[in-house]
Amino acid sequence: MGCAISGSGLTPRTAESRNTEDEAPARLTPDHIQLIKESWKVIQEDIAKVGIIMFVRLFETHPECKDVFFLFRDVEDLERLRTSRELRAHGLRVMSFIEKSVARLDQLERLEALARELGKSHFRYNAPPKYYGYVGAEFICAVRPVLKDRWTSELEQAWKTLFQYVTGIMKDGYLEEEQSKRNHTLTSSKERPDKRNTAI
Ligand code: HEM
Repeated sequence: MGCAISGSGLTPRTAESRNTEDEAPARLTPDHIQLIKESWKVIQEDIAKVGIIMFVRLFETHPECKDVFFLFRDVEDLERLRTSRELRAHGLRVMSFIEKSVARLDQLERLEALARELGKSHFRYNAPPKYYGYVGAEFICAVRPVLKDRWTSELEQAWKTLFQYVTGIMKDGYLEEEQSKRNHTLTSSKERPDKRNTAI
C-alpha cells in the first residue's frame, strides 16, 4: 500500500480556511500542462483500474472518507471493493472528471466553471473540503506504476499542481453553496412568521 509522495504539495486545507490573500491559487505553467497531457494518454488506457485503486487506497488511508459514501460506508472488507461494480462506476465518474479537466487545460475558465460546480455538488453530498487533498495523493500513487519509468519528479509536481488547482476551486464552490443555503434558510425563516405572533 505504501507510496511515498515527494514534498508536501498535497496537504489539504481545512474546511474552515478560505481562499484568502495568504493562500495563492495553484499556478499551472505551460510545462505542467504539456506534461499532464502527455502522461494522460498513457493513464487513459488504464482508467478504470486507476479509479478503483485510487478509491480503495483512499478508504484504506482515510477511513473517514468511506463514511461519506452511502454505498460504501458499511463495507468492512476493502478487498471486496476491488471487484465492486459500484466502486468501478464511481471511480470512472471521477476519472472522467479528470479527463475533462485535462481537456480544458487550454481554457482554464472552463475548467474553473466545471470544478466550481463539482464543489457545489460536494456540499450536497456532505463531502467537506478537508478531505479533497487526499484524492490527489492517492491518484499519484495509483498512476505511478502505470507510467513506470516515465514517472519523473517534474511530472509528479505537474499533477500535484493540477489537483491543488482543481480542489482549491472545488472548495470555493463548496463554500459558496454552503453560504447560499445559509442565506436561503435565513430568508425563508424571515418570510415565514412565527405562527404564535400572527394568531388572532
Ligand atoms: C479531487 C477530489 C474529488 C473529485 C475530483 C471528485 C469528483 C467526483 C465526481 C466527478 C463525482 C460524480 C458526481 C458529480 O459529478 O457530481 C463525485 C461524486 C461524489 N463524491 Fe467526489 N470527488 C472528489 C473528492 C471527494 C471526497 C474526498 C469525497 C468524500 C470524502 C467525495 C465524495 C463524493 C460523494 C459522496 C459523491 C456522490 C456519490 C454518488 O455518486 O452517489 N468526493 N465526486
